[in-house]
Amino acid sequence: MSIVRSQILSIAANAGEEVVTNDDLAKVIDTSDEWIVKRTGIRERRYIKEGSYWSDLMMPAVEKAMEEAKTKPEDLDLIVTGTLTGDLDMPSAAGLIQARLGAMGAGAFNLQAACSGFLYGVTVADRFIRCDPRMKVLVVGGDAVSLITDKMDRSTAVLFGDGGGAAVMGGNTSGDGRGILSSRIYSSGEHGAMLYLSDDNGADIKYGYREPGEKIPHRTVQMRGNEVFKIAVHSMERASLEVMADAGLGKENIDVVIPHQANIRIIKTLASRLGVDMERVYINVDRFGNTSSGTIPLALTEARDKGMVKRGDTVLMPVFGGGLTWGVTLMRW
Ligand code: UT7
Repeated sequence: MSIVRSQILSIAANAGEEVVTNDDLAKVIDTSDEWIVKRTGIRERRYIKEGSYWSDLMMPAVEKAMEEAKTKPEDLDLIVTGTLTGDLDMPSAAGLIQARLGAMGAGAFNLQAACSGFLYGVTVADRFIRCDPRMKVLVVGGDAVSLITDKMDRSTAVLFGDGGGAAVMGGNTSGDGRGILSSRIYSSGEHGAMLYLSDDNGADIKYGYREPGEKIPHRTVQMRGNEVFKIAVHSMERASLEVMADAGLGKENIDVVIPHQANIRIIKTLASRLGVDMERVYINVDRFGNTSSGTIPLALTEARDKGMVKRGDTVLMPVFGGGLTWGVTLMRW
């Protein structure tokens, strides 16, 4: 019997319409294009228009992915979203995508894994599909991070943008070896204080993230960038080696790396530790900044459209995010 693999059947992406350059930000906060480019590689990011919501950002990608996979809404068995910035808590982000798509009959839930949301979703879909290869699963990852950024905090305001994407996943029983080879997810809640979303309910004081009396704007991303930088590199390196070992592959077998796009220095350090040349690494952090759970689908869609990811290529996708969470998916495209 041939191996059953789950496979990304289609992928599409979308980003906010409003382009915000480093110079635009430098008019409002004490920063400069030079500092941002040198420390992060980011030149511009995109925000959603005022008055629009996360689902408005995601629906164009969802519709395109569904069309590309030739999948009708009623054929979906499951919708998994990975976002921090859904329109409402209930219905979940996935429930609202289901309603807007008219995908009646599908199960739908949001999983919250910050930047790792898309790859967490792919991993969950992979396990469902390997149990039942007839299933069709829509995985949506993306964030409108501009809605949860303190625009006056230069340590975070320059880093993030709005974007994401969607993939239809299904089973591959053909035996051609394409699909997910290994996908692992990880978390360390004990390091939550390094990157978390503030809340006025006092729980952040309970866990020691914030001192009593310390004022932080409600529902904004709070980050100790320097600490996150180090743990992100180390964690993604170790996890990448684990999934490569799962599949019995070495660095010479990796055709393309689609990494989380948070900081060009993180990406270069990770590539060098893995021994992969930068020509094999896709970069778009310069144009979108960090779109949280949107980075992987945005980069994968672009890399596929530009011909950098081709049929049969072995693709490594490492991600790291708040919470802390991280994960790596290795697939044959
Ligand atoms: O997706 C989730 C995962 N997130 C990440 O992976 C982000 C990881 N961290 C980073 O990418 C980097 O740590 C940052 C880009 C956030 C910061 O870069 P850094 O090289 O670690 O800088 P730093 O935080 O050590 O700050 C260096 C200096 C400080 O000034 P002093 O104390 O040396 O005088 C900061 O106050 O740069 C200052 N600074 C800025 N200056 C101009 C911090 N932010 C800015 C800014 N513009 N926007």
